[in-house]
Order: sequence, then C-alpha cells, then structure tokens
Amino acid sequence: MNRKNLGARLGLYPTPVVVVGTYDKDDKPNLITLAWAGICCSEPPCLQISVRKERHSWSAITERGAFSVNVPSKKYVVETDYIGIASGRSADKFAATGLTPVKGELVDAPLVAEFPVSMECKLKHSIEVGSHDLFVGEIVACWIDEDAPKEGTKVRAEKIDPLLYMPGGEYFGIGEFIAGGYTLGKKLIEK
Ligand SMILES: Cc1cc2nc3c(=O)[nH]c(=O)nc-3n(C[C@H](O)[C@H](O)[C@H](O)COP(=O)(O)O)c2cc1C
Repeated sequence: MNRKNLGARLGLYPTPVVVVGTYDKDDKPNLITLAWAGICCSEPPCLQISVRKERHSWSAITERGAFSVNVPSKKYVVETDYIGIASGRSADKFAATGLTPVKGELVDAPLVAEFPVSMECKLKHSIEVGSHDLFVGEIVACWIDEDAPKEGTKVRAEKIDPLLYMPGGEYFGIGEFIAGGYTLGKKLIEK
C-alpha cells in the first residue's frame, strides 16, 4: 500500500458536528458549534466534547455544570457554521439564526427546538488536555424527532440527516446505507 506519514496530526476522518447549548452568567442562551465531540460511554450514557478555554461557552459549561448537545440536520449548515464563527460574548446567536431555545427539563441548559436530536447533559468530568479542555457529560434525556425512531434502538438516518466534518475545514452529508452492524462480520467467524 502506498501511504505517507503526515506526522503528528488529527487523522480521524470524519467527525460529527454538534451544536452545544448553554446559559451564560447573564442567563442568555448561547450556542457553540463543535467538531471535537463523540460518544464516550454506554452505561451511564455519556458524551465528550472538547472546548477551548477562551470560548464564551467554556465558562458557561463550567459555571452551570450542564450543557445540551444538539445534532443539526444538513439543512442547517449555514446556521451551524455561523454559530461556529460568532461568539455569544457579543452576539445573540438564537436571534441571529432564528433558532428557538427550549429550556432543558432536567438540566440548566437550552436545547435547539428545530434540530432533530437534543441531549440534556450533566457535567461529569473536566480534563485539561492541551489546547482544549475535555468535558464529559452524562446524558439524562435524549429528545428526538418523533418520526426518527425505527424498531428497537434504531433511527431513520434520513430524518436526522446529520452533518459530518472533515478536520481541515469541510462539511459533508452522510452516504447510503451499507449493512446492519454486528452481522456481516460473522461470515469470517463461520469460515
Ligand atoms: C465546524 C466547526 C467546528 C468547531 N469545533 C470546535 C471545537 O471542537 N472546539 C472548540 O473549542 N471550538 C470549535 N469551533 C469554534 C467555535 O465554535 C467558535 O469559536 C465559536 O465562535 C465559539 O462561540 P462562543 O464564544 O459563543 O462559545 C468550531 C467551529 C466550527 C465552524
């Protein structure tokens, strides 16, 4: 195989794109776009997000001990990108985007009404890593578009229609269905 070493670089392609909601010290609802985010534990269900200290959202997460993680659909790419450029220090991002803040039922953080998935998270761990601090949030509620769930724990991907991010600076959508998980690989066990 022809490969070259790019050195010490982020090579996880792609990452999800999430929009995290908080209330700041003046109780103003704010949003931040994050691409450094992911699931980090099944039981209890937890997410990890990485935030630079200089972000307005960093103080809000630390002070309130809570945040929401919202999954934007592809059609909200303009709003999502704006939320990742403007700062809540000087901008009202809900007003500028026309998105609607909904108070979390269980945590002190706003959710985005228009997005197909929103999770309410309680801050469980904060870890200094380097440029970013890692926040682990325990998910205490997961709100989802009523049409999205299928049988069991499966969801209709087309109802979520999430954005993906290629580190370096490009948004993509998801591709076609390929196969169910934990199934095809069995062929190699039975051989
Ligand atoms: C696609 C994208 C991904 C981003 N990912 C992160 C991230 O993972 N961590 C972070 O601290 N900032 C990230 N940012 C930058 C913040 O969203 C941006 O600095 C924002 O304006 C901070 O808002 P705030 O000051 O209101 O908290 C990202 C921006 C974009 C556009």
